[in-house]
Amino acid sequence: MTHIQQPATQLIDRFNRIINYVRLSVTDRCDLRCVYCMSEDMKFLPRAEILSLEEIQFIAATFVELGVTKLRVTGGEPLVRHGIINLLNNLGHLTGLNELVITTNGTHLESMAEKIHDAGVKRINISLDTLKPDRFRTITRIGDIDQVWRGIETASKQDFKKIKINSVILKHRNHDEVVDLVNFAIDHGFDISFIEEMPLGIVNQHNRAEAYYSSDDILADLKSSFNLIPTTESTGGPSVYHKVAGSNTKIGLISPHSHNFCGSCNRVRLTVEGRLLLCLGNEHSVDLKHVIRQYPGDSKQLKHAIISSLAIKPEQHEFTVTDQPVIFRHMSVTGG
Ligand code: GTP
Ligand code: 5AD
Ligand code: SF4
Repeated sequence: MTHIQQPATQLIDRFNRIINYVRLSVTDRCDLRCVYCMSEDMKFLPRAEILSLEEIQFIAATFVELGVTKLRVTGGEPLVRHGIINLLNNLGHLTGLNELVITTNGTHLESMAEKIHDAGVKRINISLDTLKPDRFRTITRIGDIDQVWRGIETASKQDFKKIKINSVILKHRNHDEVVDLVNFAIDHGFDISFIEEMPLGIVNQHNRAEAYYSSDDILADLKSSFNLIPTTESTGGPSVYHKVAGSNTKIGLISPHSHNFCGSCNRVRLTVEGRLLLCLGNEHSVDLKHVIRQYPGDSKQLKHAIISSLAIKPEQHEFTVTDQPVIFRHMSVTGG
């Protein structure tokens, strides 16, 4: 039997939550423009303002020394960052890390899935909100679903421990596809998580309040087609899972609006600008880029900044079901 080693150090916040999961956004850029994530005229960060891959690695390694056991690499779209495979390779070798995982839109998996696997990535989450080519084009504004199919096929041939599909469900855009999406996941042996849209950044192609479709609605739709068994299994992320009887597939519900999960929050986020965000749904942050550029290579200073930052980790997000953005940064800045 294998035992997961407990780290010697642990990051604990004011509410006694252990922080052992860090989401690293390696770019704010993306080759898609999903309507819930970006506005049409996004401005991206100039190169001079973003962390180098070495800086990201240094910060990640320091977090692992502080007891973090799970790193998720996100974007924007992480696979558009030059040198990403090198970074994954280096992160994959960090002593003390249990899981290196990645969230991607799938457009680059055809050429990169094997390298990602070989770098030590255990699981991948692929965003896919629809199975219909024309809808995919509308939701992503510019995407070609065939490119993602090819990526998914290549990824499923690698020996990943699990592949999970992420679908943001919006009323009148794709809520009628939840059963088809689950069948797609079952056919491929994937898990799937359905996500309630969060009010991050101004989006102009739909009214977020009108597009709200709750996890309870989704569950009701699914129960008419599947025998669902609740389970307490967790990946350390916010999904609450149901097993689909007779398959290997689990359905996750990510319900920031309808079932707040902040009480069990175990994560913080690093933006590619070097801002440590203490919560997705608040602005509390600490400028780690400033610390590492003022004290290059000094992990003691960085550790001090990280440990001190936990004093401002908020108790919960401030999201409400509203057409107005609650947070002005777009999701693409934090990678979810
Ligand atoms: P697993 O490791 O597979 O459980 O992944 P995950 O769900 O932690 O990560 P993923 O990148 O797949 O994120 C799925 C969705 O969950 C995204 O829409 C994220 O924005 C959302 N999410 C992840 N963490 C948080 C969080 O702390 N708060 C909120 N509100 N949403 C989150
Ligand atoms: N609300 C909820 N999920 C979002 N994502 C992007 N923007 C939003 C939003 N406003 C999702 C993506 C991806 C994950 C990382 O975050 O679809 O699956
Ligand atoms: Fe790109 Fe993901 Fe945002 Fe879509 S949700 S625009 S794929 S970062």
